[in-house]
Amino acid sequence: MVVTEDLTSSPPPLQPSPFTITTPLYYVNALPHIGSAYTTMAVDAVGRFYRLQGYPVLMITGTDEHGQKIERTAQERNKNPQEHCDEIVQGFTDLWQKLNIRYDRFIRTTDDRHRAIVVEFFERVWAAGDIYSGKQQGWYCVSCEEFKEERELTEDHHCLVHPNKQAEWRDEENYFFRLSKYQTALQQFYGDHPEFIQPESRRNEVLAFVERGLQDFSISRVNIDWGFALPNDPKHTLYVWFDALLGYVTALLEPDEDPTLENALKHWWPISTHVIGKDILRFHAIYWPAMLMSAGLPIPQRLFGHGFLTKDGQKMGKTLGNTIDPVALIDRYGSDAVRYYFLKEIEFGRDGDFNETRFINIVNADLANDLGNLLNRTLKMAHKYCEGRVPSVTVAETDPLRQLGTTLGDRAGRAYRAMALHEACQSVLTLAQTGNKYLDEQAPWTKFKQGDRAAVEAILYAVLESVRLAAYWLSPIVPQLSSRIYGQLGFAVDFDRVNADPSLREQLGGHGHWGGLPAGQGLVEPQPVFQKLEMPQ
Ligand code: MSP
Repeated sequence: MVVTEDLTSSPPPLQPSPFTITTPLYYVNALPHIGSAYTTMAVDAVGRFYRLQGYPVLMITGTDEHGQKIERTAQERNKNPQEHCDEIVQGFTDLWQKLNIRYDRFIRTTDDRHRAIVVEFFERVWAAGDIYSGKQQGWYCVSCEEFKEERELTEDHHCLVHPNKQAEWRDEENYFFRLSKYQTALQQFYGDHPEFIQPESRRNEVLAFVERGLQDFSISRVNIDWGFALPNDPKHTLYVWFDALLGYVTALLEPDEDPTLENALKHWWPISTHVIGKDILRFHAIYWPAMLMSAGLPIPQRLFGHGFLTKDGQKMGKTLGNTIDPVALIDRYGSDAVRYYFLKEIEFGRDGDFNETRFINIVNADLANDLGNLLNRTLKMAHKYCEGRVPSVTVAETDPLRQLGTTLGDRAGRAYRAMALHEACQSVLTLAQTGNKYLDEQAPWTKFKQGDRAAVEAILYAVLESVRLAAYWLSPIVPQLSSRIYGQLGFAVDFDRVNADPSLREQLGGHGHWGGLPAGQGLVEPQPVFQKLEMPQ
């Protein structure tokens, strides 16, 4: 029996089932851009959240290396395709390291084991009678790796997604996948699993598209070598998408396991969540489940289609010269700042904009001021009024900060499970902002002068505990900052080690709830936990 995760906003089950999450497998036609970084940081944050909650997690990323686009890019660079791919892949793994991404599997579609999985899958679909040979005529956009309908092209056959690239006319014998056969089964599936495509706007887009009628699509190409030969007709090369989607399956194999579907699918399948950009929704929401139905395999639980990033309100592109280099951004501002801005500022699912001034202002206001300063000034008071130790008091249940802190876990947890990362950040930030107001209103410095030590201790405990909770719930987004906050509070916790260290996960077991800060724990000499960002001159 396949045990699947409840992806709605209900509380986690007592016995967590495996949680498998994927980024798209990125094309290696160029070095990674901010769009690839965006998806990957979101996936990393959600993976970290589930790991923190005690789930067995497998986070998958990787690269899509076959197809005409890559073949041509390699030619332009006078490289053989494999050499080209190896170079670009290095750019991806370097970026993931800089961005503090903790993936468990990195799948390359040029991996030999992937070929075995693709061939076995193809044979299943073939045996189901869902592949036939036919004539393919149409306009092909190599940049999209997709045939386009007339309405998706300009008058002179430029693709709307790539207006600087002309689509190419193709008239060739191809093998086709019988997508049309699965129209009703897909509609039934979407009806039975309303949570499958998220957010709602993307689901509606897919439903409307399928409603208009599905056509079979070709899954082989001639006159291209860079890809897998069709097992039954080696003159044909398998269409890059039929190959790439299966990368999600190959990635599930243990490193030393034989590459069979049975091995790949036995533990982590079906995937809990595929995170993708809205441009590749159809492949994941229509082609992929139909292919799996044909092969008789269970379908992933959820697809989340996020929006597109723009820069200063304009579409990003090489022609406009306004792309954002993620490496330069991280080098200048650090990975936590970059992760925080994109995940907090942009509602996950919608389009969003990057503007450097806004980026600096938001990160400084939220992380340096609201959170960092709150901790800093409270720690100073704890050193002055409480001998540098966590006060031994019980904060009243009616205390407003305690009340908010007590419910933070519910709100943040629900938001993470629903992929509403901006809401998860906002719920934490609200606690920090309330903590600042609370401190100003309660004025422990006055109570200290009045000799009311019990009140001072209760106030400082409430604020320190709120900052701890904030750090815990924000750790999937800004793990390094959270570790520094924990360090200041006297813990030796490195949130980057949560993935690798089960004993640390155990130690953090109850930390999502109010009261995790032990009375009497020694507090460290206050140091700013987040240096304010400055605009480069
Ligand atoms: N290789 C395919 C995916 C195969 S998955 C089995 C592919 N690769 S891609 O490199 O072109 O795109 C990867 C992801 O980057 C997509 O999810 C796409 O939506 C995303 N983005 C590309 N440009 C983007 C922005 N400007 N903003 C946000 N995401 C963007 O498609």
